[in-house]
Amino acid sequence: CANSSPVHENFVNCMSPSFNPYTKSFEIIFTAESPLYSDLLQSSPQNLRWVNSTTSNNPLLIIAPFHESEIQAAVLCSKKQGVQVRVRSGGHDYEGLSYLCQTPFIIIDLRNFRAVEIDIADESAWVQSGATLGELYYAIGRKSRVHGFPAGICPTVGIGGHFSGGGFGTLLRKYGLAADNVVDAFLIDVNGRILDRKAMGEDLFWAIRGGGGASFGVILSWKIKLVKVPPIVTVFTVSKTIEQGATELVHRWQYIADKLHEDLFIRIIVQNVGAGTRTNPKTIQASFNSLFLGGIDRLIPLMNQNFPELGLKAADCTQMTWIESTLYTAGFPRGSPLEVLLNKTQLYEAIFKAKSDYITEPIPEDGLRGIWQRFLEEELVYLIMDPYGGRMNDILESETPFPHRKGNLYNMQYMVKWRVNGVREANKHVHWIRMLYRYMTPYASKSPRSAYFNYRDLDLGRNKDVNTSYLEACVWGMKYFKGNFKRLVQVKSKIDPGNFFRNEQSIPSIHE
Ligand code: FDA
Repeated sequence: CANSSPVHENFVNCMSPSFNPYTKSFEIIFTAESPLYSDLLQSSPQNLRWVNSTTSNNPLLIIAPFHESEIQAAVLCSKKQGVQVRVRSGGHDYEGLSYLCQTPFIIIDLRNFRAVEIDIADESAWVQSGATLGELYYAIGRKSRVHGFPAGICPTVGIGGHFSGGGFGTLLRKYGLAADNVVDAFLIDVNGRILDRKAMGEDLFWAIRGGGGASFGVILSWKIKLVKVPPIVTVFTVSKTIEQGATELVHRWQYIADKLHEDLFIRIIVQNVGAGTRTNPKTIQASFNSLFLGGIDRLIPLMNQNFPELGLKAADCTQMTWIESTLYTAGFPRGSPLEVLLNKTQLYEAIFKAKSDYITEPIPEDGLRGIWQRFLEEELVYLIMDPYGGRMNDILESETPFPHRKGNLYNMQYMVKWRVNGVREANKHVHWIRMLYRYMTPYASKSPRSAYFNYRDLDLGRNKDVNTSYLEACVWGMKYFKGNFKRLVQVKSKIDPGNFFRNEQSIPSIHE
């Protein structure tokens, strides 16, 4: 049999008592010899830097279960065989931690767990971890014009990683994070038990809403509160180059973006544009990209009062439904059918490295100019500035593991992309972004310099092995979770004392 290897046979023997009578092992367990293995391995990774990566071993097996009992069996059999597990939902992890590992491992791929059940009467939904944000938004949009959900902007992002790491998008200022709007969940723990909120207890339920799922088990599904959106919302994008006053506008934005009415979200995307020729010189462009929960008639006076410098006119704005706005913000051309939200094609697939910061004090114009200057040295660079404030200020730092609440003006994400996958290219661009990060030190949050867990960055530190100590893990853990890190370690130590669910940035399990 082409599929046979000792590990494969052991898994088939170990797992098959849990299969339902109609499941065949070759439909859910894939070895490197299976014709579908490499398609499966490479179908969801978002960061192409890790495709065909030589820095890790490939998984011994990819297990793509259809039924919960098969996941339970995969966890228990991996424990028995002494192989590590990586759980993958949407595969968007920036550092590829859902499908890369240095030691023998299997992937549990949740691609078949993608059901979304909307209950409009209850204003809630159950969504499985393997679904994408696009599938969730689509299902909501099909049922209601006045409900939405506050989660990320890219429709191919997976629910499993996104919700368990926080998750924010254009509704953040009104409703907070995706994780803030989760009311129940089902998780399979290290002993193969299926636990809902009541059975897992409030500590573990707290931990999986921002502390990252990968440390705690396999999260199967989430119950979420839908949020109210008006039948008509307004979007706009106004782009300005340095020559058109971008620096002054970005500078001014920092003073107002987190204080605006919570119905108004204006993010900035900065990139370099121009071909570098005499007629089309290279320059920096800042795009002010906005969602307003209301009509143009209410938006224009708000903008005139708070951000007149941008000079927003009604003609710059478009009214639409909330679900249409998810397409707009994701960058689909106007008039695209809602079904594009269901596309598995990765809109933003690229080779990249990203880093993040939280900004608590406005950066002076000179500081911004220093960023622009560095941007002009590179080709494909992006700065994404997402304003906080509003609802984010009302939620205590300790309410979920995600601590970046009151006091943060905005989240800043730096990203550099390149075209040719290779070590030399990677080193060059990674060096550049590390230099930019160093340059940003005086302007970023301090003690700790904090970062967003879902913008995974292994430069912040990594666990050395299964016995990583609390102090060693604090190096990266405090940056993502601040004062919540200690509680995450306590929860982890209780639920998974043997540290079975682990990766380079998983919460360590500590024993006194
Ligand atoms: P993936 O499957 O790679 O998992 C990420 C991590 O979660 C891994 O450690 C994995 O093991 C673990 N995990 C996944 N499913 C699990 C499960 N069911 N149980 C336990 N552990 C599980 N973020 C944001 O807040 N707002 C945004 O707008 C965007 N936009 C965006 C665009 C693009 C193009 C990318 C690549 C990423 C983003 N993100 C984002 C970041 C995104 O939220 C983050 O990468 C998520 O972790 C991705 O979740 P996936 O399930 O897709 O990743």
